[in-house]
Amino acid sequence: MNLKSFPINGLSGEIICPGDKSISQRILIIGSLLNCDIKISGFLDAEDPNSTMKALNNLGSLIKKDNDIVSINHRSKPFSNPSSFLDLGNSGTGMRLLTGFISGLNLEATLMGDDSLSKRPMSRVVDPLISMGKEISTNSGKAPIQIIGGKIKDNFEYVMPIASAQVKSSLMLASLSSGNSIKITEAKITRDHTEKMIEYLGGSIEVSESSEGKVIFLKNSKLSKISTYEVVGDFSSAAFIIVAALISKNSEVMIKNVGLNKTRSGLLEVLLKMNANIEIVNKLKTCNEDCGDIIVKSSQLEGINVPNSIIPNIIDEIPILSVAASFAEGQTTIKNASELKVKESDRLHATSMGLKAMNIKHNLLDDGLIINGTKDDIEIHEEIESFGDHRIAMSFLIAGLRSKNGVTVKDCSNIETSFPDFSKIMNNLGMNINE
Ligand code: S3P
Repeated sequence: MNLKSFPINGLSGEIICPGDKSISQRILIIGSLLNCDIKISGFLDAEDPNSTMKALNNLGSLIKKDNDIVSINHRSKPFSNPSSFLDLGNSGTGMRLLTGFISGLNLEATLMGDDSLSKRPMSRVVDPLISMGKEISTNSGKAPIQIIGGKIKDNFEYVMPIASAQVKSSLMLASLSSGNSIKITEAKITRDHTEKMIEYLGGSIEVSESSEGKVIFLKNSKLSKISTYEVVGDFSSAAFIIVAALISKNSEVMIKNVGLNKTRSGLLEVLLKMNANIEIVNKLKTCNEDCGDIIVKSSQLEGINVPNSIIPNIIDEIPILSVAASFAEGQTTIKNASELKVKESDRLHATSMGLKAMNIKHNLLDDGLIINGTKDDIEIHEEIESFGDHRIAMSFLIAGLRSKNGVTVKDCSNIETSFPDFSKIMNNLGMNINE
């Protein structure tokens, strides 16, 4: 499905931020382990969390969706080997987190995914799980992943060779589901939703500093049962709305209940440095996660050098940041972001191709992009390729706001994986996106 986005006069209004994808998947997994009745509100009803839900139900979880509420029910039987392959679709988080979780449960299972997920690196979780005692085979480091046997060791210590919350969480879930302790050191701080959720449930998480980085010690401890859980809004989805309001003229938008966890919301810091008019109000904590309402107004942005240390905390926002940088005065430099090459698409290449179609002067680096912004609206004559990647598709639809003649983005069906109401929400704020 191709989508077209046309220029408009301005965006205005209030919306409630859709639920966080990372947290929705984590509460399904950890909530299933608690084995009690839990009602989850704010759950992201999108393809990625839904494929994680299906896989968990295949292992014996009792998870149901009823309108806006997702219920996890108490199981009378233990988890069991699935009757068929677990299909995680497009979800890297689902595949990597469940590989750890299932490893800890001592089950046998084979996890597979769609074409994009089958090309993504899985050795990053499988290798440490093998060192932890598991027998797992892959297709040369890629899915399908076959979990064969072995037992998770206690007191495993791991120094993360890459910045990845999915790897960190996979190993923590393997320890949690097997009832063991683990110490993980990360040189670059990645999203900490798993740690925050375990802490919220009364688990023992100690965080300290060492010369190698942040040390996370998850000590085997009993988690408390809960009856409700509220998922905060997804900062990564809010990012599209924030940039849309910033780059379009005469705009003022309020996004309510946005997750503001510092390890996720680095884009706010970057945009504020770029001269963005953004205000945060009504700050509160929901289920141990910071959240609040964001007010954004049209702004003339200025290019900056994005600090290297913040890259893991804006990892999913770099395509939309590149669109913001395209309309900023001066140059924006993004480096140290080669992880983008192994996301749902090679996002450095995909972003560069979109910028090229927009006639935005830029350099594609091996680990980033240097973008020379323009203050003018642009003419786009080529259709932009999404590379089947939701974040690329949404980023370039937002760029259409500053086009003179509109933009067509090809193959946008993948938006369903993370933000199914994207067009509806953006059109309610004043955008003009249609098929
Ligand atoms: C995620 C972590 C990030 C992010 C992904 C979701 C998570 O991946 O890109 O969209 O939920 O843990 P990495 O941890 O591989 O960087």
